[in-house]
Amino acid sequence: MDNTVKIFDTTLRDGEQALMSSLSVHEKLQIALALERLGVDIMEVGFPVSSPGDFESVQTIAKTVKNSIVCGLSRAVEGDIQACADALGVAEQFRIHTFISTSDVHVQQKLKREFSDVEAMAVSAVKFARKFTDDVEFSCEDAGRTPIDNLCRMVESAIKAGANTINIPDTVGYTLPHEFGGIITNLFERVPNIDQATISVHCHNDLGLSVANSIAAVNAGARQIECTINGIGERAGNCSLEEVAMIMKLRNDILGLNTNINHTEIARTSRLVSQICNMPVQSNKAIVGANAFSHSSGIHQDGMLKSANTYEIMTPESVGISKTKLNLTSRSGRHVIKHRMAELGYKETDFDLEDLYQDFLALADKKGQVFDDDLEALLFKNQQQDDADSYKIEYMNVIAGSGDFATASIKLACGDEVKIESATGNGPVDALYCAIKKAVDIDFEVADYKISNKGSGEDGLGQAALVVSWQGRNFHGYGLETDVIDASGQALIHAINSIMRAQQVARLKEQAGIETQKEKVQGI
Ligand code: KIV
Ligand code: ZN
Repeated sequence: MDNTVKIFDTTLRDGEQALMSSLSVHEKLQIALALERLGVDIMEVGFPVSSPGDFESVQTIAKTVKNSIVCGLSRAVEGDIQACADALGVAEQFRIHTFISTSDVHVQQKLKREFSDVEAMAVSAVKFARKFTDDVEFSCEDAGRTPIDNLCRMVESAIKAGANTINIPDTVGYTLPHEFGGIITNLFERVPNIDQATISVHCHNDLGLSVANSIAAVNAGARQIECTINGIGERAGNCSLEEVAMIMKLRNDILGLNTNINHTEIARTSRLVSQICNMPVQSNKAIVGANAFSHSSGIHQDGMLKSANTYEIMTPESVGISKTKLNLTSRSGRHVIKHRMAELGYKETDFDLEDLYQDFLALADKKGQVFDDDLEALLFKNQQQDDADSYKIEYMNVIAGSGDFATASIKLACGDEVKIESATGNGPVDALYCAIKKAVDIDFEVADYKISNKGSGEDGLGQAALVVSWQGRNFHGYGLETDVIDASGQALIHAINSIMRAQQVARLKEQAGIETQKEKVQGI
């Protein structure tokens, strides 16, 4: 049996569906390009039938990504599969992933059908998907709680119908590692045509066992792991990509398994996903947490000084964490910034050197020394989409003291239009947000708002991250500035510009007479 395990990343589907606010097409594309650089074999990038926005992002990614197979999800119904085929048809290589529940609880309570009907639906869905591509994956949702006889029967029928990847999800994260490994062993022993498909696993983390279960499965013969960056996903999340990839690299002596992952891209991809998805990584998270390579106790520090392998089983560099600190100041030239970005692993096409350099100079003037983290923070800031028809802050002034209220004045520009407003509030951010709300005339609510330090040191950049709800949908925004009030204003404008794009999509959809299906799509 081949000892390469395919990595199927579902950050942009299972991960994205669990976020408070959906990502824009541009944000999803940024993540997809990072996943391609990371070397994932397959990336599942959305559920095209669910909304025009999802359809558009799947199509955009399918057009752009060349080195990974792009995949879309569909229920086992023709409309969903057709939407996948329509969105993915532009890709060089694409996969249609279709699924239906197989456990008694799902079949009886959720689908309210007989198992044999569900089996027939799966067979016709796979046959229909095969009309568009030779690469069809079928998932038995809630396989972990499916009676083994039914699971074997479903897997055999789906392979016979033409599925060449069969995914066995532990949808509710219920199984134990030896139990889940046993399910995979059983399938290999009992399904007569199993050699005609790759067996995949998709484990959720409700009991904190998603990684252990995935490793037990590949040990039993599965050759594809479905996972997400930083383990984001429904509820307690999915199996974390960085953890399974490093386990297979480091414990190749026992497992004898490899992946195609470029391990030194791990840290950067993790930071990008955390930033764009507004999902901080817990500091003690394996591989990518801020403390994963820091040593606190005196005994450990002493051991580390004598030999790093006393307390480190892998080097930070092996996952792309660079310890080099170059002294970057306002006297550093463009070529130094370009050189440092290349050392950090960025290609020239990943950023606009002039924009980055101007932001770097402004920051260096304010804080003296600029570190690698600061440079990356500036890069994220520069990557925010800047459409001609979006709002920009031209001027803002906020006055706050120890009294009862603060005042804010704001000048916003949107194309040729300029709006000036002022307002009072119970604090500087409240006053600023009231003034912006008056200026843009959109009826939104700020549902979540956080300030944090990005970059290095006390004088690193302040990041404001927020979630704004508008007409029942959530929009995420972030701003990075040395001044947190400034950052708060930029974060709100970022979210408002996403609302404006959603308004635009809704208008286009109305003109085209397309109905939103997101509310109708249930059961994942
Ligand atoms: O958790 C799950 O079962 C899923 C399927 C759609 C693969 O996400
Ligand atoms: Zn899932």
